[in-house]
Amino acid sequence: MTVSPRRYHITTFGCQMNKADSERMAGILEDIGYEWAEEPDQADLILYNTCTIRDNAEQKVYSYLGRQAKRKQEQPDLTLVVAGCVAQQEGEKLLRRVPELDLVMGPQHANRLRDLLEEVLNGSQVVATEAVHILEDITKPRRDSAVTAWVNVIYGCNERCTYCVVPNVRGIEQSRTPAAIRAEMEELGRQGYKEVTLLGQNIDAYGRDLPGVTADGRHQHTLTDLLYYVHDVPGVERIRFATSHPRYFTERLIRACAELPKLCEHFHIPFQSGDNDILKAMARGYTHERYRRIIDQIRSYMPDAAISADAIVGFPGETEAQFENTLKLVEEIGFDQLNTAAYSPRPGTPAAIWDNQLSEEVKSDRLQRLNHLVSIKAAERSQRYLGRLEEVLVEEQNAKEPTQVMGRTRGNRLTFFPGDLALLKGKVVKVEITEVRAFSLTGVMVN
Ligand code: SAH
Ligand code: SF4
Ligand code: F3S
Repeated sequence: MTVSPRRYHITTFGCQMNKADSERMAGILEDIGYEWAEEPDQADLILYNTCTIRDNAEQKVYSYLGRQAKRKQEQPDLTLVVAGCVAQQEGEKLLRRVPELDLVMGPQHANRLRDLLEEVLNGSQVVATEAVHILEDITKPRRDSAVTAWVNVIYGCNERCTYCVVPNVRGIEQSRTPAAIRAEMEELGRQGYKEVTLLGQNIDAYGRDLPGVTADGRHQHTLTDLLYYVHDVPGVERIRFATSHPRYFTERLIRACAELPKLCEHFHIPFQSGDNDILKAMARGYTHERYRRIIDQIRSYMPDAAISADAIVGFPGETEAQFENTLKLVEEIGFDQLNTAAYSPRPGTPAAIWDNQLSEEVKSDRLQRLNHLVSIKAAERSQRYLGRLEEVLVEEQNAKEPTQVMGRTRGNRLTFFPGDLALLKGKVVKVEITEVRAFSLTGVMVN
């Protein structure tokens, strides 16, 4: 027997949900005595928390896994775990492909890591991918930041966007109770966290699955009600939420954000396409006109709100003219930030087997053209910050310039300025913006 404690390393791919899950799984591992290993090759337990949103994300996992599987042949007591969305999608098939694996566990099982590892220690190869009711995690997550934190509010997704694997791999919607969410935020406030981002794949669906209706017949627990319920948690100075769905976004929610001082003026509302026929083929449930109305409404309440979104180019059957409607939307709305992707056919999704797929050349050409426009528009949007005083919450050192610290504005723009992290970390300070780039700002602190 070795005397030193076993060590673990987690590599996380994919979205904020996966990051939040990894933090909880790390908390569970530390609770049962594991210690963090900075170098994967020094760890006795390797956990890959995987993403399968596009093919390249999935392939990355296999190349990482191959290396550790080889290591396991020389070090048989190495524990190899694949968690997350590839695990859910592939299940048993992963064991056949990589027989060295000890544990394959879907995202719904993240909070069960302790029990699953116990089965592994008893000598079994374990696959945990059945649909389950997600229980509250009673251990303390090991969070990457000491200033900002993720808090899940709803797991899963009940939409059926025709390109998307998320409903297959994350399961049906499961909302946490308002009390559990508030309790987690209060604990964060006590620990000194200053900013909380509430998370859900379709956060506007929050509460639909919880019991209770109001006198006028709407669900008693909505995202808007939740914001009013948690906004005064002591210590937490900023609240954000993501991801919003244009189909369910309400004016009531916008009003709450305008009214509640801790709610940041930043909205992440993916539109995916600026063309109504493509939106219909994607089964998104809104038109570009509705999307524009939402943005207008936000700007009528909060003229300076930052708007970000996701978009897909090269969806099956997308014509040049339909793609240009996406360019037009981006041109006219002027996003502060846009995550763009070329359509990638995913197993088990309807659009993947349509016969009107576009060539890789067309997709990558459109992606480049869109990205070019995005950076021009983002640079334009950044201009409005020049000379302004912005509230910045300091998070870290500027990795490229150690005399500077890094934080974000309420609108989520990365901001750098000269300062001492030891004094400023976790503080909200006023910064005069002296230099702007497409996606970041530089300034000086003002007392
Ligand atoms: N729940 C969010 C997004 C989830 S996935 C929403 O409803 O918008 C994150 C982003 O990945 C999506 O917004 C979409 O732009 C992109 N995406 C999802 N499936 C994709 C696919 N098959 N090919 C390319 N991009 C995809
Ligand atoms: Fe995927 Fe659509 Fe659900 Fe978003 S809303 S996770 S794009 S199915
Ligand atoms: Fe990827 Fe799963 Fe998130 S597929 S984007 S990690 S929900």
